[in-house]
Amino acid sequence: MSPGDGRGHALRILRAGTGEQWATYIAETLIARLQVTPSLRVCLPTGLTPVPVYERIAGAVAAGRASFARAEVFLLDEFGGVAPDDTGRCDQMLRRDLLDRIDLPPERFHRFALDGDVDAECGAYEQAIGSGCDLTLLGIGRNGHVGMNEPGSGPESLTRRVELAPETTAASARYFSHDRLPTWGATMGIATIMRSREVWLLATGTGKAPIVRRVVRDAISPLVPATLLRSHPAAMLIADADASALLGHGVG
Ligand code: F6R
Repeated sequence: MSPGDGRGHALRILRAGTGEQWATYIAETLIARLQVTPSLRVCLPTGLTPVPVYERIAGAVAAGRASFARAEVFLLDEFGGVAPDDTGRCDQMLRRDLLDRIDLPPERFHRFALDGDVDAECGAYEQAIGSGCDLTLLGIGRNGHVGMNEPGSGPESLTRRVELAPETTAASARYFSHDRLPTWGATMGIATIMRSREVWLLATGTGKAPIVRRVVRDAISPLVPATLLRSHPAAMLIADADASALLGHGVG
């Protein structure tokens, strides 16, 4: 595992070995951040990528090696038009994968309630984040989205309602147990994410290798929103061997 500075931009690239090594590295680094800053304000994604990381963090809390008692968790995004108890909702996924298994006080979990005035809800969320999270974890969509910031999302974008790209709606089928798939959602914006002190972009598996290569090598552009993170002073791409397979030698 060796951090590098890619091609001269700010994004650090960490090739983190096997999926096991990758998950352990991320979980242990997050636990270390929590030990230094027990009141850590952390933004967490859902999706399949972080699941093994959450598994390890839950294990560390159960073993008394980590505590979220004073931390604060902000959910990165949420699907719209989905029932509050739908198991495919992002808040339900995060509860299942992590929150039900750690000691975070319920009132320290921030999530989106999208059944009322969505714009007002997004504005209130942006206010709650305030000067930014301490740490933001992100997965990457195959089209380069982060959160639900689809291609076209600019660096100034804030927490807001968004329409999902057709491929994102199709990909969400893996989270839902029915075929009424969401076409919109609410997400922290690129500017909201950029206010975070640290950002970790997570990727695993060969399916993510092409987009990981584009995130590192394409021009910084809203067309591939994850490239915008290269302008962040403390962003790190943490990819396992499979996801970093197309980066070539000398990168990361
Ligand atoms: C989830 C999220 C999405 C996913 C991305 C990758 O909260 O914001 O951007 O991180 O679609 O999904 P997985 O990890 O399932 O490949």
